[in-house]
Amino acid sequence: IKMKKIYILLLLLAGHTLIKAQKTFVVDLGKSGAEIRPEMYGVFFEDINFGADGGLYAELIKNRSFEFDQPLVGWIPFGEVNVLNEDPCFDRNPHYVRLNEKGLRRGTGLENTGFTGIGFKQNDRYRFSFYARSPNGGEKKFRIELINEANNPIGKGELYISGSGWKKYECLIKAAETCAKGKIRLVLESAGEADLDHLSLFPAETWKNRENGLRKDLVEALYDLKPGVFRFPGGCIIEGNTLETRYQWKNSVGPAENRPINENRWNYTFKHRFFPDYYQSYGLGFYEFFLLSEDLGAEPLPVVSCGLACQYESTECVPVADLEPYIQDALDLIEFANGTTDTKWGKVRAEMGHPQPFNLKMIAIGNEQWGEGYVERLIPFVKALRKQHPEIKIVGSAGPTPDGENFDYLWPKMKELKVDLVDEHYYRSPEWFLENAGRYDHYDRNGPKVFAGEYAAHPKNRDNNVASAIAEAAFMTGLERNADVVHLATYAPLFAHVDAWQWKPDMIWFDNLNVVRTPNYYVQQMYARNVGTNTLPVTEEGNVISGKDGLYASACLDKVHSEIIVKIVNAAAEVQDIYISLKGLKKPIKEAPVQITCLHSNVPEAVNTVAAPNTVIPTHSSVQTSENGFQLKVEGNAFYVCKLKIQL
Ligand code: AHR
Repeated sequence: IKMKKIYILLLLLAGHTLIKAQKTFVVDLGKSGAEIRPEMYGVFFEDINFGADGGLYAELIKNRSFEFDQPLVGWIPFGEVNVLNEDPCFDRNPHYVRLNEKGLRRGTGLENTGFTGIGFKQNDRYRFSFYARSPNGGEKKFRIELINEANNPIGKGELYISGSGWKKYECLIKAAETCAKGKIRLVLESAGEADLDHLSLFPAETWKNRENGLRKDLVEALYDLKPGVFRFPGGCIIEGNTLETRYQWKNSVGPAENRPINENRWNYTFKHRFFPDYYQSYGLGFYEFFLLSEDLGAEPLPVVSCGLACQYESTECVPVADLEPYIQDALDLIEFANGTTDTKWGKVRAEMGHPQPFNLKMIAIGNEQWGEGYVERLIPFVKALRKQHPEIKIVGSAGPTPDGENFDYLWPKMKELKVDLVDEHYYRSPEWFLENAGRYDHYDRNGPKVFAGEYAAHPKNRDNNVASAIAEAAFMTGLERNADVVHLATYAPLFAHVDAWQWKPDMIWFDNLNVVRTPNYYVQQMYARNVGTNTLPVTEEGNVISGKDGLYASACLDKVHSEIIVKIVNAAAEVQDIYISLKGLKKPIKEAPVQITCLHSNVPEAVNTVAAPNTVIPTHSSVQTSENGFQLKVEGNAFYVCKLKIQL
């Protein structure tokens, strides 16, 4: 009898806890709110962590034009190999190598070890090419080999060159086996001299099989994300360590062979992550960025230098009176993107293969600049842009932090200057993201709109773990709820090579063969694929759901697809029971399927790795509605997107 009593007591207690834990979230369809920009969730690309050369840009040879400060970095020459620059093939990349095979049987040639090795995939073909001339005009034979880690050839090609003028030669080589850290070897097999430049090796299969193309698996990861906006090319990279090394977009267009290389600003920053071989080939340049934006269906958002080198580094700046060429660069960029083919820069675009305009709608002036120096320089940019291109939206900066002196100084200045969007950056702890999910609930609705241009939750160990992803998801409910004032958001940084990174966390990791989509990637994807057209209020007992009991929620209507989308985050560890009640339905819903996508792990520290890329991935399920709503058992450390069809 005693045991029975205890059992009944336990049952009552359990029932009590359940009733207490039961929550009701009310989504009010009668109050369809602000329009959500279709481009709201996007990506920010910067050549950091070997994101471009060695990453997205599919070129496999490092220092292909011998233009690094030490011209043979990346190369292992054997026999007689000299770097020359007389009568070059490319005037802006004048170095080339002269090989002299004296028939001494020791061989003459070069090897290139790529970016932390070259990845080859079994049965894939690789396009090797070089520009060559034979100083005495006679025919010379080259053997080209793909080499594996054990130093054995796994693919072979041959090229014969002749004539004393520069010509391009190419061949396709098939890899007989997979290897992650291979190299390429080139051997001059004929006696005498041969000059070579711009030695290049691409997988034959690139994104859309373009030559000078992009790594297919990495672009696919972007494509699957469905980004609405594509910000490029930086980041600090546009500022440069010095003004000389700032990103100059004009150097990144035209034939890839003649784009002058630029030392990468991320070469230096972190002593413990020093890569003295980090240069930008600009093979992935502004044309390719615009093309990629178009492929992804994302609005391009280029960032240009405002005449300030990185304010963390050299602090070099152009006097305001001398800014004209910088402003002209911005104006010319608009012409490059949108100008008709009879304009100077529109013609360059057309000659590169895209006569149609890229339909550029916005431009950012400066990256995360701060101080009076920035404002002084922004003023003439705004004046010139407004005069010549009133149709283009201008993005200004709120500095490198989401609060503090610089931030407080810059926002009123941006309002005064009437820029269209203000770029806010926040790299903060997951706790900060959770605590600040209501950040925009009371923002000024009359000034410029917000562009959350760089953000990521940084756990102490800087892993891309579940806790950080969930914190970002929670924070983003606040972005969505305030879509009338927050127009764009892009996580940062985008890519990192597992063997060559400077900064973490990053959204997508990769090595020479594999891609790892992080939990943070999936959060971005779940937002970007479920944008909706208008916000809807979702409340608990009349209050916004933003942190109470670890819960966060936002909701939207998708007028195009006649759907309601509810996003719920449970940042607490405990399971919570929630009834989502749909108020104001035109036609009551008795039973209808609700599609559920859920990102969840019981282990907040869990990460995806090359060895285990699918440890944390979204799962899909469905529940049935009952009485104009649906019941959801919400796991701890979880992010849910719930979608159902309604009659509008
Ligand atoms: O995303 C990495 C860097 O963080 C960006 O280059 C810069 O804008 C910020 O400081």
